[in-house]
Amino acid sequence: MKGIILAGGHGTRLAPLTKIINKHLLPVGPYPMIYWSIQKLKEAGIIDILIVTNPKELDNFIILLGSGEEYGVKLTYKVQKEANGIADGVYLAKDFVKKEKFIVLLGDNIYKDSLKPYIQSFKYQKDGAKVLLKEVPDPHRYGIATLNKLTKIITSIDEKPLSPVTNYCVIGVYMYDKKVFDYIEKIVPSKRGELEITDVNNMYIEKNKLTYDFLRHWWIDAGTYEALFKANSLVYQDIKKERARITND
Ligand code: G1P
Repeated sequence: MKGIILAGGHGTRLAPLTKIINKHLLPVGPYPMIYWSIQKLKEAGIIDILIVTNPKELDNFIILLGSGEEYGVKLTYKVQKEANGIADGVYLAKDFVKKEKFIVLLGDNIYKDSLKPYIQSFKYQKDGAKVLLKEVPDPHRYGIATLNKLTKIITSIDEKPLSPVTNYCVIGVYMYDKKVFDYIEKIVPSKRGELEITDVNNMYIEKNKLTYDFLRHWWIDAGTYEALFKANSLVYQDIKKERARITND
């Protein structure tokens, strides 16, 4: 399976820093944010990775990551000309993934869980798509899912609902079959002017083909200063715990 990391957007909630530097290059722990997504894919055995970013910031990614050889992965880059939404970014991967199933990561999502078991279970899924969920205290900020827990499929997703009916946030880890490109061709821009990934996921739901799993550990969308600070402190806590574990062994 191949992996896509979406690292475009304006990062407006992290202005003024993001006027000069792409959000995904800001530090999370001792590394630029994008390292964590690369690391998650590599750990799960996915080394053929497409990075989608802005024309303005592409050079910085190439200076930092190059061909990916240094990190044990093979990187390809694609430019998203305008910030037209997550689904628009995914569509840019069409030629890269061809007809295979693939995984998409939003580069600003930081979490502790390994992706290995989730990818494995999607490999066994005949077709359709799979998303990962996390319970959150502020559901109005995210895509929020309602579930059929018996059949283990999602029955609807509301993007940033005013009156959320659950607190099951659809996090930025999406697994798709090749149908996704047909669905993206059918959707239209939302009120915020973007091709919404939630609209695409709802098309899978119409066919009863969107499965889910829950993350077990912490998860953060590091798109605001407060969340970025929190991501940093959680990453450092884990680094400390890991060091203590190694010393005690
Ligand atoms: C996006 C998605 C949303 C998802 C979130 C996870 O929101 O649209 O469904 O829950 O990422 O980070 P955005 O960051 O574009 O507001």
